[in-house]
Amino acid sequence: MQIVTSLPDLRTARLSLTGRVGLVPTMGYLHEGHLSLVRQSQAECDHTIVTIFVNPTQFGANEDLSKYPRDLERDLSLLRPLGVDVVWTPSPEIMYPPGYQTWVEVEALTHPLEGAMRPGHFRGVTTVVAKLFNATQPHKAYFGQKDAQQAAVIRRMAVDLNFPLEVVVCPTTREADGLAMSSRNKYLNEAERKAATVLFRALSAAKDLYEGGERDAEKIRAKMTEVLEAEPLAQMQYVSCADYDTLEELDVVKGKALLSMAVFLGKTRLIDNFVLG
Ligand code: PAF
Repeated sequence: MQIVTSLPDLRTARLSLTGRVGLVPTMGYLHEGHLSLVRQSQAECDHTIVTIFVNPTQFGANEDLSKYPRDLERDLSLLRPLGVDVVWTPSPEIMYPPGYQTWVEVEALTHPLEGAMRPGHFRGVTTVVAKLFNATQPHKAYFGQKDAQQAAVIRRMAVDLNFPLEVVVCPTTREADGLAMSSRNKYLNEAERKAATVLFRALSAAKDLYEGGERDAEKIRAKMTEVLEAEPLAQMQYVSCADYDTLEELDVVKGKALLSMAVFLGKTRLIDNFVLG
């Protein structure tokens, strides 16, 4: 496994890879969800590049970038046994050289849901992901369904900017009790960790309603709200039942829909989603 930091070293490493290359972009502090993306890349491509970069431009002013968990040695020890070819760990100065002023922005898809709660977040994500695509030149790039809007926005960007690659969205990896894996779960204390299953419970209750024949989106949103409000440690930020492609809120569920939510457990903000239909 080659571990490279500078751009020239990455380019040399990339040139040594022949055949199909898969990219797994991460912000590190890897968990089983990231490793499942790596495994899928390994199964579908000849080589895999993993990037580890805590991207400052996708954090809001009220989101503590300096507290984001980091442990490079642990990350590398998790990647080595998987046979990853290259790990790129660029510095912020490489990704954002002095005088930086170039941004990639997807429009309507970034306005609702996470985009409404975290202004500027997706501009940071699409900019860094475009730069990672340029630098690593992958044939396929792997993202988790847990960040459903991020996946949709990156897919849109890849089409709109004619990136010659396939964006692959992989299923959410969950703990045994249903909690979606996330680097942020580490912030939860014992009581919050127990209460955090409420996201999965709320999504499951809404899905049961849908599978029982309910198509009124307001009733589906109300069911998620009811389950979340019954958990004293949870503070709901939003629930949504939206069109899968446009992410616009639905009145009636007809085709594919995205159920999603953001919930605070103490100071920790968690998101999760299910796809219906
Ligand atoms: O999902 C993440 O970890 C990040 O948003 C990504 C895609 C690596 C961009 O920084």
